[in-house]
Amino acid sequence: MNITFTKVAPLSGRVITGAGQDMALCESVNELNAKNNQIISQAFKNRDFQGKSGQCCCIHMPANSDVTFLNLVGYGDLDALTEQKITEIGAGLVSFLKTKAGDPFTICMENLNTPGFAHADIIAHLAYGFLLKSWSFDTYKKPKEDAHIWPKSLTFMTHDPLATEAAFKNLKAMAEGIFLTRELITEPCNVIYPETFVDRVKDLKSLGIKVEVLDEKDMQKLGMNALLGVGVGSEKESRLLVLEWNNGSKDQAPIAIVGKGVTFDTGGISIKPAANMDEMKTDMSGAAVVVGLMKALAGRGAKVNVVGVAGLVENMPSGSAQRPGDVVKAMSGTTIEILNTDAEGRLVLADALWYTQDKYKPQAMVNLATLTGAIVIALGHEQAGLFSNNDDLAEKLTKSAKAVDELLWRMPLSEAYDRDIDSDIADIKNLGAPGGAASSTAAAQFLQRFVNNVPWAHLDIAGVAWTKKDRPLASRGASGFGVRLLEKWIRTHYES
Ligand code: BES
Ligand code: MN
Ligand code: ZN
Repeated sequence: MNITFTKVAPLSGRVITGAGQDMALCESVNELNAKNNQIISQAFKNRDFQGKSGQCCCIHMPANSDVTFLNLVGYGDLDALTEQKITEIGAGLVSFLKTKAGDPFTICMENLNTPGFAHADIIAHLAYGFLLKSWSFDTYKKPKEDAHIWPKSLTFMTHDPLATEAAFKNLKAMAEGIFLTRELITEPCNVIYPETFVDRVKDLKSLGIKVEVLDEKDMQKLGMNALLGVGVGSEKESRLLVLEWNNGSKDQAPIAIVGKGVTFDTGGISIKPAANMDEMKTDMSGAAVVVGLMKALAGRGAKVNVVGVAGLVENMPSGSAQRPGDVVKAMSGTTIEILNTDAEGRLVLADALWYTQDKYKPQAMVNLATLTGAIVIALGHEQAGLFSNNDDLAEKLTKSAKAVDELLWRMPLSEAYDRDIDSDIADIKNLGAPGGAASSTAAAQFLQRFVNNVPWAHLDIAGVAWTKKDRPLASRGASGFGVRLLEKWIRTHYES
């Protein structure tokens, strides 16, 4: 779909416009109304359109009008407009346009405005929302005969095409990062495993990202036995992917983002039940967010230093797989008793987190992981769990999360919970209290054992990485949850 921006002009062809609850129309729509016997005002009366959010009104114009098809969408309360709401209005265009093949559409929404927002930014966010919501994954489907389900092109009217294009360029880079995240999550696990995950990401070099890959030998030398132990039952080799984006000042310590990348989680010898096991192809979502975020930041030339690390393994049962009861020594020197091979994400992150803080001395470190089923029980598919050793960091992340509607809910960590992961024969065990009590916190306590004094947060995204129902900016499937919130957090607090 080709998206362009043109200067506001008289309307023709197929048009989508809108109105808020004040029912003020675009000037060009008013002109159209006057030229055509008040057909638009009449339609409002007949069809009960009050500009409320979610309402729409389709008007077929008379044969002699330049406009053939006019659709109005409700903006809702203009005083309550936020960047997020504007993006959602743009996303709403998808349902109108998806089946409208053929002639181009013009989007005429220059009456969408509210104090504090630049016009160009508003129009650019409409296009951004459309882009995010229009993504789909069709790699393995036969091309349909009527493949051309979208209009030929989409043109947004704006008072300032140049400024709008400039704003959209950055948002497009964001969308491309989010699409990479969604693609990696959606790909099946016979296609995406540690080596192929890395292959997909290698061309990020062309954006100026430094790409480094540690193979099993490299990790053995470093003593990463916690991570390696998870992959030892799989035919697929494990990898540690390290991405660096250094575009901030030389003396700025980097922000570190670390992701769990279990490309398929069978549970290992502590094997999972068969039902819905396919969903465990999404167990690399944390890693996918890391690479999507790096792509987005580099794509818009963010003035910041960020390091992204992904621990990539496949968790399989086999004759060489690790057993419940095994003890491994992590890179930090901590020994771990493995009581359940299905609690593998924390083992992968233990070494990835330790390596990252040891090597890069970040000023803040955030990890993302589809870590526990218990967080889905607690928060469902609406919010991700947030665990942190630092109130200021937790607050900033929560605020950024709210701004982009990728919500976080803070969960507890404490000394008392930490006692639950003490082991009888090693320094720690990879399970918490009996019966799975507070098991999301137990997992977080485990991660914290591998974090020193750096401000750190763990986002448990098990419930939000993949959604079974449509979200405002994503159809059901891989949401890309995490990219927008972390980009917002970095842009707000760390970019120079
Ligand atoms: N990858 C799973 C967690 C998960 C569950 C992600 C549902 C997405 C949706 C994780 O590795 C896991 O198996 N966790 C276990 C830990 C338990 C054995 C302590 C769990 O939460 O059941
Ligand atoms: Mn597991
Ligand atoms: Zn897992």
